Amino acid sequence: MKLINLGCGTRYHRDWVNVDFVSLTPDVIAHDLSLGVPFQDNEIDAVYHSHVLEHFSKSGAVTFLQECRRVLKPKGVLRVVVPDLETIVKQYIKWRDLALTGDKEAQLNYGWIMLEMYDQVARNFSGGYMAQYLSQDEILNTAFVRERMGTAFEIYRRNVENAKSNVVVKQSQSSSKHFERRFMSSSLGRVLNQGKQKLLNPLINQYWRERRYRKVGKFRLSGEIHQWMYDRYSLTQLLTQCGFRNPKVCGATESLIPNWLEFNLDTEPDGSVYKADSLFMEAIK
Ligand SMILES: C[S@@+](CC[C@H](N)C(=O)[O-])C[C@H]1O[C@@H](n2cnc3c(N)ncnc32)[C@H](O)[C@@H]1O
Repeated sequence: MKLINLGCGTRYHRDWVNVDFVSLTPDVIAHDLSLGVPFQDNEIDAVYHSHVLEHFSKSGAVTFLQECRRVLKPKGVLRVVVPDLETIVKQYIKWRDLALTGDKEAQLNYGWIMLEMYDQVARNFSGGYMAQYLSQDEILNTAFVRERMGTAFEIYRRNVENAKSNVVVKQSQSSSKHFERRFMSSSLGRVLNQGKQKLLNPLINQYWRERRYRKVGKFRLSGEIHQWMYDRYSLTQLLTQCGFRNPKVCGATESLIPNWLEFNLDTEPDGSVYKADSLFMEAIK
């Protein structure tokens, strides 16, 4: 069996060929999937991607799924896992209604669902506000967030703890700042500062603006941003449009892929679900 896990991140199994933008281990092939799926026609038994499709634009997703179909053998299985827009929207309405009554817990849950819905679409820095929320010492609605995220919650919290123990404290630069302040308040400093404001500031502002555009653009094309979202209706439509047969919603533990549970991609060894907020679908070439 030839099995491929596209956009694997750090969630992969050695029986699969694992592909992502960046490879930090020999178990993962580095490749930009927007350039195509790097396999021959009709070569693969099963294609799996989890929380990847939503990172493509609406039209990019069509090209990507057509590529998945091209590499699959006839009757090969495509398994797609995405954040489930339908449950996010239902949760949003539920917690919004309760939040309006003044219920404190509902207000926290509403805040989390807003992050699920918009943060990964809107953020311009890695991790976004979601990472800030998950990095708090105490998360007041832990049970709710844990239920939404699945075991990905504990994995995230463990990484936060590890990162905290590696923080490097920056050295103070107070003496050079003090000298700069004294010089700028002298008459020569003031004259130079006026000249700088007139002549240099437009150029400096332009430079920083261009730098910000490049930084934000580079980040937004890095594969972290959600460019579209799916529910069971729209994903069924899309899979059919891309030539797949028999698209079906399934559970995290159900699959047409032989020995699915042994790979622990959507589940853990104890049977708990890795990304519980997901829509799981399979379709056939
Ligand atoms: C949300 S993570 C999901 C990772 C893993 N599948 C999981 O479920 O934990 C999305 C992954 O897709 C990768 N990705 C997004 N766009 C990609 C592209 N064009 N080419 C390769 N990898 C991409 C990202 O680098 C990232 O590792």
